Amino acid sequence: MRGSLAHIYLRSRRCWASATTTARAQVMRAYSLTTGAVTSGKVYKQETIRQRSLQDPEGFWMEAQKGIDWIVSPTRALSIPSPSLLHKAQWFPDGKLNVCYNALDRHVSSGRAGQTALIHDSPVTGSVTKFTYAQLLDRVKRAATMLRDNGVGKGDRVLIYMGAVPEAIVAMLACARLGAIHSVVFGGFASAELAKRIEDCRPKVVLASSCGIEGMKVVPYKPLLDGALEMCVHQPGKVVVLQRLQFQASLGSGEETWRDAVDGISDDRVFHGFETVSANDPLYILYTSGTTGMPKGVVRPSGGHAVVLQYTMNSMYACGPGQVYWAASDLGWILGHSYMCYGPLLNGSTSVLYEGKPVGTPDPSSYYRVMAEHRVTTFFTAPTALTILRREDPDAEYRKQYDLSHVKAMFVAGERCPPEIHRWWVRHITGVDDSGKALHLIQTPVSNVVSDNWWQTETGSPLTGLEIGLSDDGAQLPPVKYGSAGMPVQGVDLRVLRIRDEFDEDDVDVIPEEVARGVIGYVVVKLPLPPGVMTTLWNDDDRFFDEYFRRFPGYYDTGDTGVIDTDGYVHILSRADDVLNVAAHRISTSSIEEVVVENNEIAECCVVARAHPIKGSVPVVMAVCKHRDHGEQVKEDIVEAIRNRVGAFTSLYKENIVFVDRLPKTRSGKVLRKMIRSMISALLVSKTSKLANIPTPATIEDDSVKEEIWAALSDWITGLEKRDIIT
Ligand code: COA
Ligand code: AMP
Repeated sequence: MRGSLAHIYLRSRRCWASATTTARAQVMRAYSLTTGAVTSGKVYKQETIRQRSLQDPEGFWMEAQKGIDWIVSPTRALSIPSPSLLHKAQWFPDGKLNVCYNALDRHVSSGRAGQTALIHDSPVTGSVTKFTYAQLLDRVKRAATMLRDNGVGKGDRVLIYMGAVPEAIVAMLACARLGAIHSVVFGGFASAELAKRIEDCRPKVVLASSCGIEGMKVVPYKPLLDGALEMCVHQPGKVVVLQRLQFQASLGSGEETWRDAVDGISDDRVFHGFETVSANDPLYILYTSGTTGMPKGVVRPSGGHAVVLQYTMNSMYACGPGQVYWAASDLGWILGHSYMCYGPLLNGSTSVLYEGKPVGTPDPSSYYRVMAEHRVTTFFTAPTALTILRREDPDAEYRKQYDLSHVKAMFVAGERCPPEIHRWWVRHITGVDDSGKALHLIQTPVSNVVSDNWWQTETGSPLTGLEIGLSDDGAQLPPVKYGSAGMPVQGVDLRVLRIRDEFDEDDVDVIPEEVARGVIGYVVVKLPLPPGVMTTLWNDDDRFFDEYFRRFPGYYDTGDTGVIDTDGYVHILSRADDVLNVAAHRISTSSIEEVVVENNEIAECCVVARAHPIKGSVPVVMAVCKHRDHGEQVKEDIVEAIRNRVGAFTSLYKENIVFVDRLPKTRSGKVLRKMIRSMISALLVSKTSKLANIPTPATIEDDSVKEEIWAALSDWITGLEKRDIIT
């Protein structure tokens, strides 16, 4: 019975309801396809190495740290202040280094000066620009000189709001060179969100682009920055703007162009030095969405992060020095930090920075063209990008035009990858179907391994995946299981803890009790965490403890629910908290709610996620209006406000705003979001679902509200277009 569908279902039926219905169906399918047949008890190198890393962390990581050039080598790997402070463990506590030196200087002096370090491929501007390691180092030194001239030194913050331009990477590395702490903000964030980040990290200097280019759209960034600064008490001492041809921003006093401030530095003024920092000094702050409207400033330690990135470039991503890595993401997200900027450069590889979309820039050939043109070895994207590609080019006709035989490894992350998308990609990218039959002519098939890997801003590198680099011939590589995010990696002691009452909004009834393989629960990591994971939250050590370590003492709470199956594969199902994942963008429901309630017609609201056929999930606003005669205009105003204040990438559409007379609440006044989510999931599966199958939370204030909410949701879902619903 163990591992069977019935077993899984029975053991976890309560938690089952809150995962999206599609995800649930997919996990069931994955089990039925593969349980027991995949690994046949074989222990793969990935697991042998992981076991060694857990049994002897000191020995394992002291070996791994040799990939980094330290100014003062660490004498030990791990330091734990006390058994009750495992979450405060420090890696390489006495090591000293400079991360920029490791990313650039050491390669320039060891024979890679003329090797391409960075390729900016920008179909939206019709340009491809390449930088050798020597050229990139020169630019970084000039940017560091400018920052230094403006008083930036060790520990000072610099905010970067530039989009997908090479200068953004130059700026990040220039900060690292000076021991300054950068905070890159995703260009999709509008003024209000940008302001929160400026106010929290209080940058000495802000570096911005005049605009970003989104497909065919020019998005003026400088006016958004101006709007943000108007909202802030903190004002940076200097703003430097990269003027792009597509939009010339007007500059105020204390503002200068990148051309004058950086490119204009004469050779004799260039500062050639770099700062020595301790392994646990912050490299950067990257804000991520939590359960409140205030983003969390994840603080990344310099040394442990450098070690892990250099290690995983080879172990997970199979991309050696001199080879080409392309992560089709954005520098504003963790993938951009880890594997568009630092990872490839620390490893002496070449990084591709792509300024375009999977389709429309100009057509669905873009991904294949970039891979072929730059001879990409390792490719990484988000499942939504593949879903969009499949929609536009289902038979992958564009792919057939390119020789991709140099591609060794492919990865997806950022959100759950639906098995049919995973399978479609493998089939079309390799040109070989599941039975090994050739589908179309390509010169040599690329590896048929497409690994889904699961990680978070907080962790900085994958927690699970298939470590393609650990197997030379594929024999030591666990087979792909569609819909799973692979297996845990080195340093990660992954566990699943029991969910007692999935409808409990207060989470009072939690006991860290591990579940058997195959049972869904909270996915946690037993402490200590591996190197490179955040060391705290900027300005908020208490929140760091409360959000990640309080609920399950001795574990890191990932905030995700999932299951480890009987073969040891991990399936991540959904967030356990109120964080949305829209097209692999992490968004706080509170940041949307706080803008919705600013509308004069709205009395109160709550935001939950619903499954979406392209974007994985999108937000649904359930709102109570002050007056009965509200019209469509209110919905339009809300959509507009969210786009202008939070950003268009939130993907809030008018049809996903539902008005109700009152919100369902607990006796202590909390909105019963989990119940709303499960109602939506049930109705999306079938409009004839029965309310009786939705459990009533024990803490509900007035259970008659259930019927009202159910009726409102039924009407709303009936009105949705078929193309908006996963069937
Ligand atoms: N600046 C301004 N606007 C942006 C933006 C940015 N950087 N990114 C997205 N937007 C806008 C889009 O233009 C679009 O606007 P519209 O509603 O006016 O058309 C809206 O936000 C929704 O965008 P999105 O959902 O991102 O769709 P898309 O078709 O533009 O892009 C993907 C699709 C898959 C390429 C994109 O969602 C993506 O890159 N996702 C992966 C994110 C990622 O890498 N996460 C980390 C993985 S670990
Ligand atoms: P972010 O911090 O923006 O990278 O978002 C992290 C969250 O995205 C995780 O907590 C998951 O909820 C989700 N996520 C990331 N990668 C995966 C994956 N491979 N499978 C499922 N969910 C994922």
